[in-house]
Amino acid sequence: MTAEFLLLAVVSADGFIARHQGDPPWAWASPEEQERFRATMARVTWSVLGRVTDETAPRPERKRIVFTSSVKGVAWLTEKHLGFNPAGATFDEALETAKVEGLVAVLGGTRVHDYLLEIGRIDEIRLSIELIRFGEGLPMFTGVAWLGLAAHLERHGMTQVGPDEVLNATGTVERTYGRISEASRPG
Ligand SMILES: NC(=O)c1ccc[n+]([C@@H]2O[C@H](COP(=O)([O-])OP(=O)(O)OC[C@H]3O[C@@H](n4cnc5c(N)ncnc54)[C@H](OP(=O)(O)O)[C@@H]3O)[C@@H](O)[C@H]2O)c1
Repeated sequence: MTAEFLLLAVVSADGFIARHQGDPPWAWASPEEQERFRATMARVTWSVLGRVTDETAPRPERKRIVFTSSVKGVAWLTEKHLGFNPAGATFDEALETAKVEGLVAVLGGTRVHDYLLEIGRIDEIRLSIELIRFGEGLPMFTGVAWLGLAAHLERHGMTQVGPDEVLNATGTVERTYGRISEASRPG
């Protein structure tokens, strides 16, 4: 089984994924970002996300691995949603149970990003940045300020690939991060 893990997120210009829990991206993201998100999701086989994001954007027909402490390790919540608790199982066990392959979208939130980056499971990040500022909210990674994001990703073996792509006249950009190849990795 081979799977590729693509983290998709949209952030405010000061780096927040939401103003508060339950605040969905479609309430503030640009139409161009949303269109691109939908186009990518059309190619996705599985999504990996936290219980709150699952409940904020319920899609019972889609195949999902949902992080939740309500299961002991790995357990089916519905026919297509597998519950996963890292305290009781490994992520590989969840992938094997669900028979995950193909393009997998990592859809947040913060602790799901933390976990998958920490275990080295993110192959690529596509980050859209909207030109609005929230001042406060949920960060992409726990304890990582927006200005520290690039350094945090570098410490986990990821770096920006190519220039930012401008998505619209408002100035929304998409930034891609990929794995630093072992050969070019510092230290
Ligand atoms: N802008 C974006 O691209 C983007 C992306 C994702 C989410 N969001 C937004 O962000 C908000 C939700 O994000 P969030 O970070 O608050 O919540 P979340 O990650 O979606 O869900 C948090 C829940 O997931 C479970 N969970 C996460 N990590 C876990 C772990 N390591 N072990 C066990 N359980 C774990 C827990 O569920 P239990 O409580 O059941 O134990 C936890 O309460 C929503 O408003 C959503 O719309 C935005």
